[in-house]
Formats: sequence, structure tokens, C-alpha cells
Amino acid sequence: MQLERTDMGGYSLLENASLATRNTLRVPARARLLAELRDAAKLPELLNFPAVRQSPLLVLGEGSNLLLAGDFDGTVIAMETRGVQVEQDGETARIAVAAGERWDDFVRWSLGQGYAGLENLILIPGTVGAAPIQNIGAYGTEVAEFVESVEAWDTREHRVATLDRAACAFAYRDSLFKREPGRYVVTAVRFALPRTHALRLDYAGIREELARMGADKPAPFHVAEAVVHLRTRKLPDPAVIGNAGSFFKNPIVEAAQVEALRQQHPQLVAWPGADGRSKLSAAWLIEAAGLKGLREGDAGISNRHALVLVNHGRASGAELWALAQQVIATVQARFGVQLEPEPLVVGAR
Ligand code: EPU
Repeated sequence: MQLERTDMGGYSLLENASLATRNTLRVPARARLLAELRDAAKLPELLNFPAVRQSPLLVLGEGSNLLLAGDFDGTVIAMETRGVQVEQDGETARIAVAAGERWDDFVRWSLGQGYAGLENLILIPGTVGAAPIQNIGAYGTEVAEFVESVEAWDTREHRVATLDRAACAFAYRDSLFKREPGRYVVTAVRFALPRTHALRLDYAGIREELARMGADKPAPFHVAEAVVHLRTRKLPDPAVIGNAGSFFKNPIVEAAQVEALRQQHPQLVAWPGADGRSKLSAAWLIEAAGLKGLREGDAGISNRHALVLVNHGRASGAELWALAQQVIATVQARFGVQLEPEPLVVGAR
């Protein structure tokens, strides 16, 4: 049973709340307490409630990078703060954005204002506050390079913290916020966006798409349009079928292991990194293991993209997590490579 929503001014509270419409895998999980936060200044007050202080905390943006493997026996904070503020304009603009803004809305707004940089990151689901946590990336760009600082509530020190780019310790789909889970609640992100910059066109498919569009002198908005075409063709739309984008990270392995694997599998897809190690295509590994399109009940691996776990309808979080573990075990047995989930997995037994 869902109780009444209580308006506390700046946030609302609901007990035993359904999260079914708050996660893009559409898992029917519930939270003991749900707080919808509209004013970040109220966060300390909310976190100070005994019921909140004494139980686990989960901060939710759009729930697009999350697998709720069970109910959440704690407090979920739904970030619903809004606001975009240009603090300084010029060749490079400093723009502060509230954590609850939709990422794709912000990207489109920034391109509309003539700021460059975020064009390759268009159409990524989720909120602005979630973007630095896993350092979202696509088509050869990561958000980290455009983040000037992140504002967060530090639940350990009980104060507002401003972390500059270096302090955020960004890496591939990783940051300080992921490595110290539960410590920081991101409330705003400050971006530094240039008016002009060298476009990133090298990722497979971009130049071909631009040529198809007839854009021989591409501007950022052309690149954005090319990325929209590529993503729409390749990735299942969460509005149509429940999914959380790439469910597995591309594993980073030693050069010697890549060579050994390539001996046996000449088609292996790998990208060499600067440190001598290589990133393997997890999608290739999963497809080569024969798992693309796999379905157990309503839990499945997309038949469009092997990295994407999908909910065909009524799969529970536990069923989706069981299927993900089956994929991890099969790829490990077949290639000796350990896959890791990219989304946050909560409530797994
Ligand atoms: N491939 C397959 N089977 C498939 C799909 C892809 O074998 O079903 C192989 C192909 O050889 C392809 C290669 O995998 O060339 C790479 O595929 P893709 O370009 O789709 O990229 P990805 O490595 O699978 C990553 C990100 C995506 C991002 C794309 C484009 C991760 C975990 N995923 O996917 O990010 O959009 O590159 O830049 O890093 C996300 O993080 O949620 C996400 C969607």
C-alpha cells in the first residue's frame, strides 16, 4: 500500500513507495521511504531525520543506470532540482547546472546557445547530477573533460564540498563518487564549455554518418545529429523497452592477454590504451559467446546490442540480475575475461 505524499516544503516524503516508474529497466521494486527533493538547500535537514540517518541511502536521478535487484530497505532521494546558470560567458563559459536537470535537455540547450563540447554525448539518458558519477562517455568523448567542478553534500563531514576536476579522480566510467559510495550527494555540476573546439570524429561510424548527411564542414550540431542517428539505430530506446544502456563495462586487460585471445579469436575487437593495456569490446565477447538475444522469461540480452540487458515486460530485478550473472559466468568460462556491471546494482542477494 502506498501512503499519502507529505509536502515538507522543498521536498516531499512517501512511505513504502513504488519505484517502478523511476528506473528505466522498469523493475517493480519499492522503497521504505522516498524523498522527492526540489530544493538542494533542504538536503541537510532531510538527511538529519533519524529515520533517514539510520538507514541506507540511495540517490536517484532518472534511474537509467540502476538495477534494483530487490526492494530498497532505506531512503531513496529522487533529485528533482532544476536550474541552469551561466556564471561567466566568453570564449569559455562557466555554467552551473542543478543535479536534477535532464542530461539530454542540457546538451541540447548548450548546443542551442552555441557552446561546443557536449555534442558526442547527446541522447544519453539520465540526469546532470549522475553524469560525473560514472563519467558518462560516448563516441570518443567523456564528460570529465568539460567538468570544472562538482558541488556535493559530504555526508561524512556534514558540509557542502566543491570538488574540482582533479579531486573528482575521473577514469573510464569511474570517479571518486563511485569509489566512495554513499559519501557524496551531488547537488550541482559546473561545466566549462568552449565556443569552439576540435570536433571528435574518429569513433567508428561518425564520419560515414556525416557524409551521408552531406555535412562536409561539420559544426557541433551536425555531429550531434550524426550521434542521434547512430544511437537510434544501434541502441534500444528505453521508452520502448526497459533497459539501462550498456549493462557491462568494456574490460581493460593486459596486452599479453589480448595477444593470447587474438590467437584463438582473430576477430576479437580491442582498443589499445595509453598505458599498454587494452579495452576489449564486451559486446563482441557476449555476442561471440552466443548470448546476444538470449531470453529467460522476460529478462533478456538485446538482439540489437549485446551490451544491453532488457526487460521484455514483467521481469523482476532478481531475474535480470540472474541473467546478468549468467552472462558474466559464460564469458568468463569461454574467454577467461571478467565482465563487470556498469550500472549500480542495489539489493542483490
Ligand atoms: N559489437 C558486437 N556486437 C554487438 C554490438 C557491438 O560485436 O551487439 C562490437 C562491434 O565490433 C563494435 C564494437 O562492439 O564495433 C563496439 O560497439 P559500440 O560502438 O556500440 O560501442 P560499445 O563499446 O559497445 C561503448 C559505450 C556506450 C557508448 C558507445 C559509443 C561502454 C560500456 N559503452 O559501447 O555507452 O554509447 O561505446 O561510444 O563503455 C553506456 O555507457 O551506457 C553506453 C551506451
